[in-house]
Amino acid sequence: MDIIVGDIPDDVQTTTKKIIKVTPVTDEDLKAKDKKFSRAEVARHNTKDDCWIVYKNKAYDVTKFVDVHPAGPNYLTDYAGTDASVEYDQVGHTGDAYDILQTFYVGDVTAADYIDPTNPGVSLPWT
Ligand code: HEM
Repeated sequence: MDIIVGDIPDDVQTTTKKIIKVTPVTDEDLKAKDKKFSRAEVARHNTKDDCWIVYKNKAYDVTKFVDVHPAGPNYLTDYAGTDASVEYDQVGHTGDAYDILQTFYVGDVTAADYIDPTNPGVSLPWT
């Protein structure tokens, strides 16, 4: 099943109405990616033409999505190279948005930079 992005409610401010088709990623696809990136490595991809973000200990290369993000490119470029977990969640993105995000997965953050959500007392960069 493809996800069609483009059915954007009228009350949402958009700079684009482009439609993209995304084929959802399976758990097997995700397991096949065994590359690890430190947060410092992710931070190097901090431009519009090379835009990575971290979401919940996973690194995503969202460069191809910058210009089709329904709320405009700045939401992504403002967080290029950083952990955008809190901001991503605060918006209340739909499941479709999450499925799209998975298609840009490039690997987990390294063990040294991993934030364990089950570790009591840890300050999480997401809600
Ligand atoms: C990084 C990967 C991201 C993807 C794949 C993504 C995808 C999407 C999609 C598909 C929508 C349309 C509505 C929906 O389906 O939820 C959307 C809306 C929106 N996104 Fe993102 N987004 C990303 C990151 C972010 C970030 C980091 C922010 C904020 C800092 C942000 C802010 C917004 C806003 C404000 C809207 C429109 C308002 C709304 O839906 O309530 N997005 N995004």
